[in-house]
Amino acid sequence: MTAQLNPRGDVAVLVPAAGAGVRLGPGAPKALRLLAGEPLLVHAVRRIAAAPSVHTVVVAAPAADVEAVRAMLAPVARVTVVPGGAERQASVAAALAAVPAGPEIVLVHDAARALTPPELVESVAAAVRAGHDAVIPVLPVVDTVKEVDAGERVLGTVDRAALRAVQTPQGFRRSVLTAAHEAAGDPLTDDAGLVEKLGVPVDCVPGSELALKITRPFDLALAEHLLAGGA
Ligand code: CTP
Ligand code: MG
Repeated sequence: MTAQLNPRGDVAVLVPAAGAGVRLGPGAPKALRLLAGEPLLVHAVRRIAAAPSVHTVVVAAPAADVEAVRAMLAPVARVTVVPGGAERQASVAAALAAVPAGPEIVLVHDAARALTPPELVESVAAAVRAGHDAVIPVLPVVDTVKEVDAGERVLGTVDRAALRAVQTPQGFRRSVLTAAHEAAGDPLTDDAGLVEKLGVPVDCVPGSELALKITRPFDLALAEHLLAGGA
């Protein structure tokens, strides 16, 4: 069934989905690879569309697959699909340019985080609504982290207590994300990084184990297992 987005919602979600998925191995672009018989992008958009504040969803698809992506998402939710770019940052910028007037909160969410719960979309949006200009979901780092030199010799041990692993959706006041992309230089893989360069504070909310990024074959197998368990 096609999910109805909320015409009174204040949130636009940009979904960069134009990457090749090199680390996942040979095959279709990653967002179109199947997880339990459906493309990763379908899983991701279904969960975004289930978040009650979402007014607009804009997907940046691989340029060659824009029509196929429109067709595959039509039964899921009413989304806008634009061609992505060569770097993630360009894909996000293309999606941002397609957001209509209205939503003042913009979230950026990797299609590769296909099992992200709608509750995380809502909690990031709520933190922006509450007055934070930029909000990222984070998890504590569980492994000990070492800094090494080019020869793999250990330079030191980083204080893990001060580190966070960063997920998406990342949420922004719309004007802040627009300014960050206008000022952007070298491509980054993280929108909050662009906002940091503007000197705007970025705040953290608790992330979710289910928002894992499907990057390598192991992650896809883990996601299959989680779905089979009801995720
Ligand atoms: N992405 C994008 N446009 C690009 C590169 C990445 O929209 N030019 C998207 C991916 O589709 C993904 C998200 O950004 O949903 C996070 O990127 P990543 O996990 O690195 O995906 P890929 O770039 O596809 O994977 P890889 O780096 O292994 O090729
Ligand atoms: Mg990549």
